[in-house]
Amino acid sequence: MRTIRIFDTTLRDGEQSPGASMNVDEKLLVARQLARLGVDIIEAGFAFSSKGDFEAVRRIAEEVDGPVICSLARAREGDIRAAWDALRNAPRKRIHTFHSTSDIHLQYQYRISRDEALKRSVEMVRFARSLVDDVEFSPMDATRTDVDFLCEVTQAVIEAGAGTVNIPDTVGYTIPEEFGRLFKTLRTRVSNIDKAVLSMHCHNDLGLAVSNALSAVLNGAGQVECTINGIGERAGNCSMEEVVMALRTRTDFFEADTNITTTEFLRTSRLVSKITGIPVQPNKAIVGDNAFAHEAGIHTDGLLKERTTYEIIRPESVGFSRIHIVLGKHSGRHAFKSRLAELGYTLSDEEIDRAFERFKELADRKKEVYDEELETLVSDGVSRTGQVYRLEDLSVSSGMGRTPEARVRILTPSGPEEKKATGDGPVDAAYRAIAEITKTQSKLQKFEVKAITGGTDALGEVTVVLEQGEVTARGHGADTDIIVAAAKAYLSAINRLRATAGESGTGMP
Ligand code: KIV
Ligand code: ZN
Repeated sequence: MRTIRIFDTTLRDGEQSPGASMNVDEKLLVARQLARLGVDIIEAGFAFSSKGDFEAVRRIAEEVDGPVICSLARAREGDIRAAWDALRNAPRKRIHTFHSTSDIHLQYQYRISRDEALKRSVEMVRFARSLVDDVEFSPMDATRTDVDFLCEVTQAVIEAGAGTVNIPDTVGYTIPEEFGRLFKTLRTRVSNIDKAVLSMHCHNDLGLAVSNALSAVLNGAGQVECTINGIGERAGNCSMEEVVMALRTRTDFFEADTNITTTEFLRTSRLVSKITGIPVQPNKAIVGDNAFAHEAGIHTDGLLKERTTYEIIRPESVGFSRIHIVLGKHSGRHAFKSRLAELGYTLSDEEIDRAFERFKELADRKKEVYDEELETLVSDGVSRTGQVYRLEDLSVSSGMGRTPEARVRILTPSGPEEKKATGDGPVDAAYRAIAEITKTQSKLQKFEVKAITGGTDALGEVTVVLEQGEVTARGHGADTDIIVAAAKAYLSAINRLRATAGESGTGMP
């Protein structure tokens, strides 16, 4: 049985999903959960690309125990130095550097020859190795690269010290049989291949990312790059939960497994979804709401007699269980803190205090507080750290035959400001008042409402996407009052837009 390394890139490629940007505290929360899930490597960001990314890599490197912490870096000295500076304090660190190798990219984007690309790749792997022992190299757009040249580059970067060579299907172009053949070719034609781990990084443009990854595993790959919920650039990346569960369920076929604690999947999926605001489709394999819901009579009949008749994975093995009633208004700080710890949240005393305050407010309004609501309180609180605008008060009046009106008070950098506005509905009225206070120029692209648990007293969660010029930002808010949740979500997106506009970005791969 081979052990396949799981390289998580949710915080780097996953964050390249439109509008999915996360703040440093959110990234830390996700990174801690990834460590709990048991991933081998966390690609924490692209340190050179922005101040926020640098800070996220640095804090994850310092504060998250267990996995190797990695930063992406283009094959340039400045990028590699920034990666090293951010990773410096990690007990186990990796620099992942990359350069395009396909003629399409070299000719039209970089305007350099193959020889020049090879030279830069080798030099930068050597440079990275002068700083750190663990270096990964990716020949970008590998699946559209001339095979002879790909073999030459692979051989040369291993010679220069790369311990992992990752084969990216950057544009999601390959198909499983072809990709498997490519791995076989690399293994037979690159004479020093046994000195490195072969990896793959598959995009999902044709819906084949997981199949391509599995085909690579069958043909000798020892590392899979993937993301939670399959998020990532364009159509996303190989989904971690799917590839890991395929290996776990069919070890008889793949003769390979991973170090992942699969019971943490559902929690991780929900956390990433909450923080990025990207919902999980109900029929999504492994973590979708309907992944284990049987409808047809003949299926349920079989299931009741013997679960394995129609169930290939036990729902509990990926974290599904009955919702727990955890706490109520009489629960103390200690019970609250230990339940959060059981749920995998290690928060500072200050964070606990803030979350406990929000819990008490919620428990005053609602008798029973469920685990999922508790998780929302935590992620919502973390999303709010560092916000410029904060909602202080909101009241609305609306009803049949009346013009809805909202009064909103927001704490701004120059003190509290209050405005009244009318609108087509109470949310519209509140949004108009907020827009006037914050002077936002953004347009609302998406507005989504979801109840976290059942019942009319459930915590409601609102996700919005705002657009301003080239930039989009998501925001979410939760509250038992859906208008308040909507206002929080709008402000959170406005805060993110401001933060994104304030960061100088580098073109991501
Ligand atoms: O898709 C891609 O090619 C990448 C590389 C940087 C690995 O994200
Ligand atoms: Zn990618």
